[in-house]
Amino acid sequence: MRDANPQPVYLSEYQSPAFEVEDLELDFDLAAATTEVTTRMAVRRNPQAAEPGAPLRLYGDGVELVSLTVDGAEPGEGMLEEDADGLLLHGLPEAARLEIVSRCHPEQNTALEGLYASSGNLCTQCEPEGFRRITFFPDRPDVLTTYRVRLEADRAQYPVLLANGNRVEAGELDGGRHYAVWEDPFLKPSYLFALVAGDLACQRDTFTTMSGREVQLELYVEAHNADRCDHALASLKRAMRYDEEAFGREYDLDVYMIVAVDDFNMGAMENKGLNLFNAKYVLASPDTATDDDFVAIESVIAHEYFHNWSGNRVTCRDWFQLSLKEGLTVFRDQEFTTDCTLYGVKRIDDVSLLRAHQFPEDAGPLAHPVRPDHYAEINNFYTLTVYEKGAELIRMLRTLIGRETFRRGLDVYFERFDGQAVTTDDFVAVMAEVSGRDLTAFKRWYTQAGTPHVTAATAQDGSTGEFRISLGQYTPPTPGQEHKEPVVIPVRVAMLDDDGRRIRGRLEGGPEQDEWVLELDRSERSFHFDELSATPRAVSWLRGFSAPVILEANQSATTLAHLLAHDDDAFSRWEAAQTLMRRAIRARIEDDAADSVLEAEIQHALAALLEDPAIEPVLLATILQLPPPRELAELFDCVDPVRLRAERDALEARLYAPLADRLRERQPKLDDIDNGAFTADAMGQRRLRNRLLALRVAAGDESAVPEVLEQYRKARSQTMRMGALNAINDLNHEARALLLADFERRYHDDPLVLDKYFGLQAASQVSGGFDRLEYLLQHPGFRWSNPNRVRAVLGPFMARNERHFHQADGEGYHRIAGFVEKLDRMNPQTAARLVQPLTRWRKVDPARGEQMRAELERLAALEISRDLRDVIERALA
Ligand code: PHE
Ligand code: ZN
Repeated sequence: MRDANPQPVYLSEYQSPAFEVEDLELDFDLAAATTEVTTRMAVRRNPQAAEPGAPLRLYGDGVELVSLTVDGAEPGEGMLEEDADGLLLHGLPEAARLEIVSRCHPEQNTALEGLYASSGNLCTQCEPEGFRRITFFPDRPDVLTTYRVRLEADRAQYPVLLANGNRVEAGELDGGRHYAVWEDPFLKPSYLFALVAGDLACQRDTFTTMSGREVQLELYVEAHNADRCDHALASLKRAMRYDEEAFGREYDLDVYMIVAVDDFNMGAMENKGLNLFNAKYVLASPDTATDDDFVAIESVIAHEYFHNWSGNRVTCRDWFQLSLKEGLTVFRDQEFTTDCTLYGVKRIDDVSLLRAHQFPEDAGPLAHPVRPDHYAEINNFYTLTVYEKGAELIRMLRTLIGRETFRRGLDVYFERFDGQAVTTDDFVAVMAEVSGRDLTAFKRWYTQAGTPHVTAATAQDGSTGEFRISLGQYTPPTPGQEHKEPVVIPVRVAMLDDDGRRIRGRLEGGPEQDEWVLELDRSERSFHFDELSATPRAVSWLRGFSAPVILEANQSATTLAHLLAHDDDAFSRWEAAQTLMRRAIRARIEDDAADSVLEAEIQHALAALLEDPAIEPVLLATILQLPPPRELAELFDCVDPVRLRAERDALEARLYAPLADRLRERQPKLDDIDNGAFTADAMGQRRLRNRLLALRVAAGDESAVPEVLEQYRKARSQTMRMGALNAINDLNHEARALLLADFERRYHDDPLVLDKYFGLQAASQVSGGFDRLEYLLQHPGFRWSNPNRVRAVLGPFMARNERHFHQADGEGYHRIAGFVEKLDRMNPQTAARLVQPLTRWRKVDPARGEQMRAELERLAALEISRDLRDVIERALA
């Protein structure tokens, strides 16, 4: 695990595997202390291999080799070579049968990759390179084979034995043991292998597919969680139906299993027919989970289900292609949530996530292309860039070639590459083929890092009535990529007249329309419109956020207010308000004085919005929110984060204090909305009430505090309880202490809910943050070995507690570096994520930046994991 100098792997050095695996049998003799694995496989030389006589590479990581035979015999002299990556078998014939016996130690596995123990159960995590921690194998995604898996274990301790595919045999054995045999008929790479052995309750349901096959749905959880499964099962059925209706994709096995695991590094894992889930993305009841949790569960359930086609049936050739499955599957789950949950602001929420997290990644030292061309540790490439920006690329492709052509392209893609391991180039080539378009230039989106800036300007010729739009693009340099080529940017636009209605017209002699997709495919381009039905009062740019870019359109505050009041595109409306607020913050920080004219205009526009009877509650709630500090920081080369947060909060108070009465009047009544309904309308109303309440508290409206108390006490749902707590969490008021103490008492033995308490305490700007942090880390409910607990405390501390994390004396950075060091010894993957806020040292003021950098230097001098070293070295480069 300790690795002084991580050696990068290069895409350009890709070679197809020397051997194919024709079939595979795995026998597990399972026990928490030591598990013995017998691996039998038939290998055959790959006719496509570059080197004819190449050895067979069997990766192994921390696995003990007990024995190995080739065609039943011990390998001859010099045949078997052991090295740091595992085993090499030289001089193999054209085809051979191997049998390997090996051992691993689940109980000691705190990295949570490979086979490990969680809450007394055994489970696996193999993506990307965990399988090699279980046995010796050509553990790479382009080696696909069929698996037959026999599990044997103590019956009392592990009554449930699961693996991928269908259970073909099971029975009792002597000595209180039992076994089960599972066969997966579909070809799969080793990263999709999974097994579970445990004492779990099963919630069942069924789903009838479009061709009339009945599929058994099984959700496995610890017995005490059996009453929190309904939402996950309902979500799964909705996702299965949606994939049939929207994408024509049908499920293929007879059973679909999901297992909830307490200790899990990520959200969930799409193993064929046997998804493993972080319990956080399965368990929900209105009393324990908020609406946002419900939506997140539904989208993760859908995401993993959709992987069955985008990822499993068609998989990745190598890990540089990760976005082939992740970008596409995120796109698919975003569509599902948009269409199926009818969740009006889904697109806005997705854009917020992208801007607050992916844009900073793309502008910092860890920036990398959606399809990277080298990596030192693949675990560090499960990023927002690969996932979320990757999904934006798919969305842009659909915009460019049109919905129907795109859908046809997907059909061709799934059909043509079924059972194969392919590349993002293969995907784009199919889209080029079905659309008849040359997408060569588009592919730069996959290979170039960095967020493009788009400049937009308009001009009107008074005499001819011609209207012109000029667009330009520029992408700043990123590590290793000084010079950028222009990319193909679809800019969706409309123009509004004085009454806020869309104007009709023609683009360069084209048909009459009232919305256009302008393709900016060079550094600069102009677009001429004529026969406009009215003079444009405002241009609605980048509608629906048609490309992941930073738009610089220089619109006046009045124009933005016009868009905010009238635009029929929800994103654009929200964006108008965001742009105004960003401008106000920028004025405050850069000129050191509030732009009172601008602020008055914003206030006026917000007041009007609060009176608008037609606006959807969820959209109103979302528009009223100021951009998060994380996103605002991107407006500046570097900024004092404590000041930025303070200025943001002060602006919020200035804007909303005079509107306090209007905020109160607009608040939906608690009794009307706290009904446990998981519908878009009900969730929107709850979001609005919670947002308005929080804004009132932030604006200093004292009458809001008793209402917070009352809401907390009367709440029947976690959404309203958390709404109350969030509203009051930065207020130094005894009500806060009272409610938090009550919450802690109430949920002290419910880890997933207790995490919310941890998050509130860790994020609070109320003084004494370091004492609270210590208290949480000593809390009986806290455990360093559980990634959810660690993230629940330290995540919000770093992301939202500017006052303490960025305390001027560097105490916050020092503590975090200490925690990273400690965690790295147990769980390198989680440590490598935890350290990331410290990598943004160039974006804070120089004094703080120096302190952050010093902590990174200190860590770099220690013996640390490859995961952590890779991140730190890139951050210091
Ligand atoms: N492939 C998983 C997903 O996106 C994420 C994951 C990656 C989980 C690596 C575990 C380990 O759905
Ligand atoms: Zn995924």
